[in-house]
Amino acid sequence: MQMCTKNNENHTPHGLSVIVSAPAVFNFTAPACPERHLQAAEFLGVDITNKRKEDAGPILSDRLRQIMQDLEMPDGLAAFGYTSADIPALVKGTLPQHRVNKLSPRPQTEDDFAMLFENSMKNY
Ligand SMILES: *[C@@H]1O[C@H](CO)[C@@H](O)[C@H](O)[C@H]1NC(C)=O
Repeated sequence: MQMCTKNNENHTPHGLSVIVSAPAVFNFTAPACPERHLQAAEFLGVDITNKRKEDAGPILSDRLRQIMQDLEMPDGLAAFGYTSADIPALVKGTLPQHRVNKLSPRPQTEDDFAMLFENSMKNY
């Protein structure tokens, strides 16, 4: 998901805006293709031996959160000045981004986006 900083004075770098929402997004998309999410976790250093497909989302998102914390990355949308009050506007800005949304292996509703933003406020 992409966004500007709340005050619009400086633009949040694209890579950062993508990564702060990645744990919530992958947690959400994992049930649609758990094997690939487990594979991604393995690429990031997780031993996935005997890991259950049902746990693919938390496994990958927990690993991402750990990496972000280790790298001292901005901690979620809150670090860019967003609060829960901004979520309706963030959802509205996300809906037209079909180029991104339509690539998701799991279809999304407006409520899903709101939940993803809420779950991205703090990552660790
Ligand atoms: C991960 O997904 C599960 C199932 O959809 C949900 O209950 C949980 O709140 C999500 N956790 C996070 C941190 O996004």
